Amino acid sequence: MDRLADYSSKGTPATDPAGRGGAGDLTVLGIETSCDETAASVVRLSTDGQATVLSSVVHSQIEDHAAYGGVVPEIAARSHVEMIDGVVRRAMTDAGLAWDALDGVAATAGPGLVGGVMVGLSFGKAVALALGLPLIAVNHLEGHAVSARLGTRVDYPFLLLLVSGGHCQLLEVRGVGDMTRLGTTIDDAAGEAFDKIAKALGLGYPGGPALEKLAATGDGARFDLPRALLGRKDCDFSFSGLKTAASRLAQACQTDGDRADLAAAVQTAIARQLSERSDRALKAYAERQDSALRQPDSPGQAAGEKRLFVVAGGVAANRTIRSTLEATATANGFAFLAPPMAYCTDNAAMIALAGAERLQKGLTSDIDIAARPRWPLDEQSALADPVHPPGRKGAKA
Ligand code: KG4
Ligand code: ZN
Repeated sequence: MDRLADYSSKGTPATDPAGRGGAGDLTVLGIETSCDETAASVVRLSTDGQATVLSSVVHSQIEDHAAYGGVVPEIAARSHVEMIDGVVRRAMTDAGLAWDALDGVAATAGPGLVGGVMVGLSFGKAVALALGLPLIAVNHLEGHAVSARLGTRVDYPFLLLLVSGGHCQLLEVRGVGDMTRLGTTIDDAAGEAFDKIAKALGLGYPGGPALEKLAATGDGARFDLPRALLGRKDCDFSFSGLKTAASRLAQACQTDGDRADLAAAVQTAIARQLSERSDRALKAYAERQDSALRQPDSPGQAAGEKRLFVVAGGVAANRTIRSTLEATATANGFAFLAPPMAYCTDNAAMIALAGAERLQKGLTSDIDIAARPRWPLDEQSALADPVHPPGRKGAKA
């Protein structure tokens, strides 16, 4: 099989693909290998903060893992080794750039499946060393956090719901390296719940898109599913109870109609929990912003500027979830934004952009930086939090 032929190239066509951009612009190669996509991208960041995707190449390993019903780490790492060279070359060719047009090399250094992360990070180090360029180690979650800026002009700060296969968090985002976590899941991520319940319903891998399709024909009101953490007032999530209850109900489903109704109920329950916790976080964020604005010399949002709520990560591709969250944002007086679909699921454009923003701030990495299977975005909040610390025994997401 010609494996080099099956990349999908995504992204906005470059307006100035072969040029070097304006003075002070930064052109960065990004590499992403933390899960089951081998991806590379070239992004240009202008001095005024505008991002242009010059290329974005994604090789999905879905076919390699489908037979196992989930990602097999060893297979993933081997596939990254096979594909990384061709994917990076294709990203450079699509961008129409010579290697000397780059200003830096960004690679995901975690969190994720460490065997895969090591492949992309080592490749990035080799390119950076060979070209004498700065290396920028990027937290995969920081990539998702900036991904909405790939589609359109978005200024900091904003409130972010990051909802993917491995993570479910609410974050106040002021810029790269400057985020505060307002809530996280105490057990599973929302995407994980989608995937596991989809598997119990006999749907393929990855389960999220398949479950969304099935849910479209179902009646979400027929099954009563548990609601998590009802007594709590914080912005944390929990999906393990829903996952167990729905998986049990799936075993009892007799007909396609039963399965569609259950899929719709699951999607509604996940959307509802995301919306309820986001509602709390929107209120808390607004309060923090208001009190910051009252401080003299506050760098906070200008008066009259509409506050922004962003949803990013693979689960943000779900249309019901997008529209539920948009309604929640609107009810709180916030503008709402989700990245273009191609930048919701894993891609390297978000890694290149986070890398370029870090480079702009002078935040580069040592060449001996290590890959990290776990790496909370807001390390301070995570370390201070006894319920879900970032270590091995903490929450999975
Ligand atoms: O961001 P992502 O590509 O990888 C991680 O960093 O985890 O997210 C993948 C997750 C999977 O759990 C997948 O089932 C879910 O995003 N997903 C969806 C949809 N598309 C992808 N979940 C619900 N509805 C979708 N349309
Ligand atoms: Zn991701």
